[in-house]
Amino acid sequence: MGTVEATRNEQAATASEGKADALTITDRRTGRVYEVPITHGTIRAMDLRQIKTGPDDFGLMSYDPAFLNTASTTSRITYIDGDKGILRYRGYPIEVLAENCTYLEVAYLLIYGELPTNKQYEQWVHDITYHTMIHESLKKVMDAFNYDAHPMGMLISTVAAMSTFYPEAHQVHDRKMREKQIHRLIAKMPTVAAFAYRHSVGMPYMYPSNALSYSENFLTMLFRTPAEKYKPNPALVRALDVLFILHADHEQNCGTHAMRGIGSAHTDPYSAVTGAAAALYGPLHGGANEEVLKMLQEIGSISNVPAFIKEVKEGKGEKRLMGFGHRVYKNFDPRAKIIKRMAEEVFEVTGRNPLLDIALELERIALQDEYFVKRKLYPNVDFYSGLIYEALGIPSGAFTVLFAIPRTSGWLAQWQEMLEDPEQKIARPRQIYLGQGERAFVPMEKRSGSSAR
Ligand code: CMC
Repeated sequence: MGTVEATRNEQAATASEGKADALTITDRRTGRVYEVPITHGTIRAMDLRQIKTGPDDFGLMSYDPAFLNTASTTSRITYIDGDKGILRYRGYPIEVLAENCTYLEVAYLLIYGELPTNKQYEQWVHDITYHTMIHESLKKVMDAFNYDAHPMGMLISTVAAMSTFYPEAHQVHDRKMREKQIHRLIAKMPTVAAFAYRHSVGMPYMYPSNALSYSENFLTMLFRTPAEKYKPNPALVRALDVLFILHADHEQNCGTHAMRGIGSAHTDPYSAVTGAAAALYGPLHGGANEEVLKMLQEIGSISNVPAFIKEVKEGKGEKRLMGFGHRVYKNFDPRAKIIKRMAEEVFEVTGRNPLLDIALELERIALQDEYFVKRKLYPNVDFYSGLIYEALGIPSGAFTVLFAIPRTSGWLAQWQEMLEDPEQKIARPRQIYLGQGERAFVPMEKRSGSSAR
């Protein structure tokens, strides 16, 4: 949406001066001519409905599988210019936020639209910190999972179960009630994520501590054993906090679209976050960070990189270079740039991850190769993040969980914006039906069995 967005801003200014643009459409079926207003570089799909061949015609629709060129909402949260590699939350460049803020400060910015004052920040941190405990019965829900359950599957199911603990969360039009669920969700995600990991390694759950920061608390719940003292390296705590900032929101991606779509039915936010997290789980979305690590392990050494690249190219889309490519970024992903730099800083503390050399070589070759250059495929946020998570001692199965924790603040900001947007209704796309017309029923004994299955 990048440059289009810039044009839109200019057009918004023009429109406000009363010089709005319009599109003239000639319908060759009828010879009729229509004027459709253009606002923010966009025409309204509903303006096409008036274009009919006759009174019984439903009216013209637009067809856009996978939403390649359709805006489903206006938003004031996150701005991306995919051609220039720009990402801003509420107007602040991601690089500036990563340099100067904590994750909770950024979460506040996403939810409320402004950076917090000292007093607001203290209250916010307090509200989040004092909601980090989870109900003991929820812990039992987690206990019921098999020892080898995927942490992301556990997280998704546990967040779904959470809605049964807070039935008042259904009051989605009550601002105060919404705020309470926002505190709970942002606060409890790290606890549930850490418990999912502890369950998978057979370790006792480590309860949250109010004395620790958001990221330090998460690392402590992950790694502290009851028998030992544990103090994570401050450089690693900061690295995790920056990773959380970089993953906090990304406008209308697959998971956020699920959050808004489910939320548009006025479903409670726990159920909506469950759907959003399920979308994130997919290997083409947040699940890619786990896939990158598997891919680097499969390649095994720098000398195997050219053969792997050849396989990807010959696979013609069957086999992908995981952590490469993006629907919106067509030049570089600004998050990947920050993460690549940060990886070096983390490795100074943890020691160099040998997979980094394979990743660097893969990137070097891919950036010169015509196949990737022509398709504008560059490393995305997931290409280097997995290497950092691994260096922090986090197993690859938990990588997407580390994406879901900070993305929760973005999902909730988008959910709230959707609920307060007077133009939004229950999400309900149209379809173009290409199946059978009405036909006569055939009893089972007379069916020919000619279906594909
Ligand atoms: N490796 C090899 N070829 C690729 C890749 C890749 N990673 N990504 C796209 N292509 C090719 C694809 O085969 C197609 O080629 P052709 O034009 O010959 O058919 C062309 O590039 C366009 O691909 P597309 O699938 O139409 O692009 P898209 O915008 O629908 O997909 C994407 C975007 C991110 C799903 C895709 O690039 C991909 O699958 N990447 C690997 C998975 C990944 O890293 N996902 C994380 C995305 S960033 C974080 C997040 O969103 O959660």
